[in-house]
Amino acid sequence: MLKGPLMSDASLLAILKSVPVIPVLTVHGPEDAVPLARALVAGGLSVLEVTLRTEGALKAIEAMAREVAGAVIGAGTVLTASQVSEAQSAGATFLVSPGSTAKLSEAAHHAGVPLLPGVATASEAMAMAEMGHHVLKFFPAEPAGGVAYLKSLAAPLPHLTFCPTGGIDAAKAKSYLALPNVVCVGGSWVTPADAVNAADWARVTSLAKECAGLR
Ligand code: 3PG
Repeated sequence: MLKGPLMSDASLLAILKSVPVIPVLTVHGPEDAVPLARALVAGGLSVLEVTLRTEGALKAIEAMAREVAGAVIGAGTVLTASQVSEAQSAGATFLVSPGSTAKLSEAAHHAGVPLLPGVATASEAMAMAEMGHHVLKFFPAEPAGGVAYLKSLAAPLPHLTFCPTGGIDAAKAKSYLALPNVVCVGGSWVTPADAVNAADWARVTSLAKECAGLR
C-alpha cells in the first residue's frame, strides 16, 4: 500500500525548493568548511550538503551550523543508523544517502530528521514511496541515464520529485531543472578543488551566483 508522504518529506521539499543547486562538499574540518560555506551563502546558495567521507566532516557540520548565518546544513553519504544520530547531533537539518534502505529510513524517521534517499531505478523509487519518501535523490544521475531517464519517470511516477546528483555541471543542471519532476540538483562542480585549495572565496561566490540564477 502507498503511504502518504512523511511529515519530514514536506519539510525536506521546502528546503530543496529554496535553491536550484545544492553544493556537495567534502571538507576536512571547520577551517576549510566555514569560509567555504560563507562564500556559497554570499552567492545565494544557502543549502549545503557535507559528505560524511572525512574524519573532520561532523566537526565541520557543527561549526558551519553554528557560525554561518543563513546556512542550512545537511549531512551527505549517510549510510548507517549511527550516522543518522551523529549527523543530527552535529546540527545537520537533513540527511542525504547515495542509496535507500529500510533501516536507514526507519532510523531517520525515528530521529525526526528528513532523509533524501538515493535511487537509480523505478523500482527503488517505488520501494521508497511505499515507505513514505516522495522526495528522492536520483544518483548517480549521469551514469544512471541522465536527463532522458529521469524524464521517462515523470509520467508513470508523477507523485515523486527528484534531486539528481552525480556527474552534473552547470550546463547539465539547466536541463535537469527544466524537468517537471526535478526540484533542484546537487553537485560538487560549484566548489572546484583549485579554488578551495587556494582559498579563492571570491571565485566560489561568483560560481554560486551563477548557480543561484539557474532557475
Ligand atoms: C556525490 O555523492 O559525490 C555527489 O553526488 C556529487 O557528485 P559529483 O561530484 O559528481 O557532483
